[in-house]
Amino acid sequence: MPKIAVIGAGTMGHGIAELFAIAGYEVALVDIAEDFLKKALQNIEWSLRKLAEKGQVKEDPSVILSRIKPIVNDVCKAVEGAELMVEAAVENIDVKKKVFSEADRCAPPNAILATNTSSLPITEIAEAVRPERKPLVVGMHFFNPPVLMPLVEIIKGAYTSDETVKKIADYAAKLGKQTVVVNKDVPGFIVNRILARVNEAACWMVARGEATIQEVDSALMYKAGLPMGAFILMDYTGIDVVCFIGDAMLKRGFKSHPCPVITQKCQEKKFGVKSGEGFYKYP
Ligand code: CAA
Repeated sequence: MPKIAVIGAGTMGHGIAELFAIAGYEVALVDIAEDFLKKALQNIEWSLRKLAEKGQVKEDPSVILSRIKPIVNDVCKAVEGAELMVEAAVENIDVKKKVFSEADRCAPPNAILATNTSSLPITEIAEAVRPERKPLVVGMHFFNPPVLMPLVEIIKGAYTSDETVKKIADYAAKLGKQTVVVNKDVPGFIVNRILARVNEAACWMVARGEATIQEVDSALMYKAGLPMGAFILMDYTGIDVVCFIGDAMLKRGFKSHPCPVITQKCQEKKFGVKSGEGFYKYP
């Protein structure tokens, strides 16, 4: 089976690697430290067992897991012979550019280099690669948890070719996902741009003492029909990620009023589920 390289084994990266492995691809999964990869493989194993219990994967979880090869800190080795890279490293433009430049140097000439960025410009990331690779740089934006969320946003940067968009749509279909093509490389694309407004409204209601966190979440879940309220979803996404997306969108000209209820959590490093406490506590 063709090889896919996934760079970054965190919340999103491990789920993306899992999805490709379920679909039968060989996956090279890279992170900067062995511990991160170990944790990622444990998370994937847990998730595969859950899916297997419900009959949602056909193969034995250990067979699927065996298709994922962990690689410590070597993008070049991971993309060697790969037909697609999906980068899901930290939301830092310099880190992403470094990954893309290295991948461009080592990947086959026709390999697509995709980023799972939530907020950074695809066009700017594409500046890190040689001119002949630029049409093959694209946004492939999954949602957390990637194995359960049905949507993938495909974002066109200034150089992305229609053929690349079509190929990403084909990969997404093989993963069982629905796609939306985002033709303008705008801050937050579609989903995060709208979620940012929901989060902002929710936070300002709490900051002004108009409603509590629990009241806002209950209203969104039990009346608006969302699967999670705004605050619980921020805990689940990671409040550090929410802050980063907000800052990146602000820098790109998205007009918003950052709310102290969110920024304070970031300052206190209360990032949600991953740190044991955010808007709620997690044992
Ligand atoms: N793999 C396999 N199974 C999983 C899983 C995973 N990664 N995560 C949860 N499950 C399982 C749970 O263990 C549970 O299994 P059991 O029924 O056996 O107990 C089952 O799925 C249902 O989960 P929960 O009981 O916890 O609750 P739920 O019914 O609410 O479903 C959810 C969980 C699918 C995550 C749902 O709450 C949901 O859709 N939440 C919204 C998520 C969302 O909007 N994500 C996008 C965030 S924005 C983003 O990601 C973009 C960005 O750029 C930051």
